[in-house]
Amino acid sequence: MDDVDSIFADDVELIKNAEVLEEDYTPERILCRDDVLDQYTSVFKPIYKGRPPQNAFLYGDTGVGKTAATKYLRENLEHDIERKNDQLPDDEQITLNVVWINCENFTTADHKTSSYQVAVGIVNRLRDQGNRITGTGYAPQDVYDIMYDELDELDGTVLVILDEVDKIGDDDTLLYELPRSRDIGYVDNVRVGVIGISNDYTFRKNLSPKVKDSLCETEIKFPAYDAEELSEILGARADLALYDGAYSQETISLCSALAYQEASGSARRAIRLLRRSAEIAEEDGSEQIQERHIRQADKDLEYGNIVESIVDQDDEKLYILKALAHLDSADLTPARTRTIHAAYARVVRSYNEESGKDPLTQRGMFNHLSKLVMFGFVNTIDHNKGAGGGQWNEHEFSDDVDPQKVKDAFADRDLRWLDIDVRGIEK
Ligand SMILES: Nc1ncnc2c1ncn2[C@@H]1O[C@H](COP(=O)(O)OP(=O)(O)OP(=O)(O)O)[C@@H](O)[C@H]1O
Ligand SMILES: [Mg+2]
Repeated sequence: MDDVDSIFADDVELIKNAEVLEEDYTPERILCRDDVLDQYTSVFKPIYKGRPPQNAFLYGDTGVGKTAATKYLRENLEHDIERKNDQLPDDEQITLNVVWINCENFTTADHKTSSYQVAVGIVNRLRDQGNRITGTGYAPQDVYDIMYDELDELDGTVLVILDEVDKIGDDDTLLYELPRSRDIGYVDNVRVGVIGISNDYTFRKNLSPKVKDSLCETEIKFPAYDAEELSEILGARADLALYDGAYSQETISLCSALAYQEASGSARRAIRLLRRSAEIAEEDGSEQIQERHIRQADKDLEYGNIVESIVDQDDEKLYILKALAHLDSADLTPARTRTIHAAYARVVRSYNEESGKDPLTQRGMFNHLSKLVMFGFVNTIDHNKGAGGGQWNEHEFSDDVDPQKVKDAFADRDLRWLDIDVRGIEK
């Protein structure tokens, strides 16, 4: 292990191969997914056979292997086509171009992506560095024209994989045009197949009928894993990542049980938990991961997750959470809607001095507040004094949220944490 004396070294090392626990590692085998893989393989069969490609829409909760299975099948498809081409005469060669786009990467500062930006992404993926286009400065129709021209420069089949496709938002032009681009006459050289991947059920439900018709030709559901399946997946990963003796079967079982209970069967969560546990055990100088390391790791991740989901909220909701943070610190929660609105208005004015943007009305703010209740950030306390006694609501942070987490989320979003004076606001 470490023979150099360094402040960065730990006395013991449990992690043999950290790469295997990284987010972008592609496992060599996809475990516990035989049914789904069978269905998914059928989607790719026409491409292998040199026939027109199919479109498909994959959905399921976060961390259930949608991206991993797609990468795995993509690699196999490319590999097998290469082998098949070795046997085929020149005029029967199968040409496959894969364009993989993670729509999340085209999210702008105001947390919006659009068909337009994804189209820019596709163009830039197909062009070399010197010829890339910028995300501003073109009319949308021009970008689509350029994109179809670029696609038509290729040969054979183009498979466009749109991961995290829900980030595309309301403007789903691309999602119905791209799968039909040959029928519409936008391209004639190539056949375009589209795979959309999403963990957002509302997005899937709200897709326009046109998109459902074209993109969702085949729908594949990835169910959540149960604790046993998580154990199998995690066990295989641990075997590659950790030294023998650094963990026990109990380590795997506990990490899997926690990921099952707390993260609705996410393999990503189980893997992160194992990695964090191993790091904590190393810092602790322990030769094997102990239960207390896993418990601590679980707490760390939970904290990070809440902060992350606060970061994902839009500005209005962040302002409301900040208002609640100040009210909470001043002992003014639970607070009535009008109290929150008064604090929220001060927050909005402080952050928008230059633009002069106005706060929403109490009614408008209440709609956002209700969403925060629905997402579990905020609790409502119902006061109902019966007939004649009146009825009102108060709000406070749920057990998962506290002012520090809101503050951390602001830091993550690169937003300053302005002092807001809530004195003088009536409780
Ligand atoms: N069946 C499996 N066998 C082996 N590893 C798996 C399996 N399913 C998931 N994993 C691993 O779990 C992690 C999360 O999986 P993946 O990224 O595919 O989730 P996802 O469904 O795409 O989630 P999201 O919707 O958040 O993008 C990855 O490290 C992946 O390698
Ligand atoms: Mg994914």
